[in-house]
Amino acid sequence: MTYSVAVAGASGYAGGELLRLLAGHPEFEIRTVTGHSSAGRPLVESQPHLRSLARLTLRETTPEVLDGHDIVFFALPHGASGDLTGRLADVRLAVDCGADHRLADPADWAAFYGGDHHGAWTYGVPELIVVGADGKPGRQRDALAGATRIAAPGCNASTVALSLAPGIAAGVIEARDIVSVLAVGPSGAGKAAKTHLLGAELMGSANPYAVGGTHRHIPEIRQALRNAGARDEPAISFTPVLVPMSRGILATSTAQIAPGTSADEVRAAWEAAYADEPFVHLLPEGQFPRTADTLGANTCLIGVAVDEAAGRVVVVAALDNLAKGTAGAAIQSANIALGIPETTGLSTNGVAP
Ligand SMILES: NC(=O)c1ccc[n+]([C@@H]2O[C@H](COP(=O)([O-])OP(=O)(O)OC[C@H]3O[C@@H](n4cnc5c(N)ncnc54)[C@H](OP(=O)(O)O)[C@@H]3O)[C@@H](O)[C@H]2O)c1
Repeated sequence: MTYSVAVAGASGYAGGELLRLLAGHPEFEIRTVTGHSSAGRPLVESQPHLRSLARLTLRETTPEVLDGHDIVFFALPHGASGDLTGRLADVRLAVDCGADHRLADPADWAAFYGGDHHGAWTYGVPELIVVGADGKPGRQRDALAGATRIAAPGCNASTVALSLAPGIAAGVIEARDIVSVLAVGPSGAGKAAKTHLLGAELMGSANPYAVGGTHRHIPEIRQALRNAGARDEPAISFTPVLVPMSRGILATSTAQIAPGTSADEVRAAWEAAYADEPFVHLLPEGQFPRTADTLGANTCLIGVAVDEAAGRVVVVAALDNLAKGTAGAAIQSANIALGIPETTGLSTNGVAP
């Protein structure tokens, strides 16, 4: 079967990565691309690497243009998609890569974003462990099967949630004292011109931002860890650092080991969680990932160590913010929602060196 697809925000970074992946998907046909300031211009002016889509012209981002497609992917600034998604009458599956439908609690939305809260959609991180109403652990992919509205994750949020959910669900780490420090590439901040993202500001420098509990992905991580069965309210100190690589996230997260837990039990929690996952891979003991090994891939690589002296578990995770962090997660989740094999159109292999 072929599904007709529209991508809103197709001139941006997330939209470009969606299109790169969708162009190789055997069951999706890209019919419509939309932009904002670039509407009316050829797509390849904004996305010169997408030569196979040179036929496409960016249209205005309106409900009328988007309605009637089987699938619409939104890659708009937060706030912009929420205004549009409620006005779609005839779209089988909508996937929002922005934040507008990620947070279930309106108070979280008000505290970290502000403006209208548009309600939570099914969260698009299939591998996440979620504890059901019956107290039994399942996977987020169970909720995605048959979904018609999906919220793709924040790239930093999904990296940290995938890092820690196995330990939380197994009860081998504490949720109340988590520290995450992330090296992140500037493509995570989008294509719009900003002074602090200029090459002159970034090259040869590592620049922390949103320090001190202000980053917008914090409530999303707490929500995911709560859903993974955290016994205590998750508390996370979260510090991202911009580094001079265009794509990629390397997240180092540490958490206290639960009393009485052995190093073997810690490792077993992550092994059991990801043994059968096609896109989330636990590295052998003593090995830790590099962002370079995930670029362009829908893959998250994870290394786990026990720091006995500090009484903490250290989890290092790498992924490509535009691939597994956004567009890959969106397409993987759409595959599940439509009953297509989950890995369709997605690669586990990165681009190296
Ligand atoms: N970049 C990442 O790694 C990443 C990861 C996870 C999630 N996301 C989310 O994906 C969304 C897009 O991010 P991005 O990095 O791709 O940003 P971006 O590069 O700045 O692209 C934004 C897109 O939205 C369009 N746009 C701008 N203002 C608009 C408005 N008022 N109404 C409608 N369209 C508008 C732009 O069109 P014109 O260029 O034509 O003006 C462009 O196509 C954001 O919500 C972001 O949080 C991004």
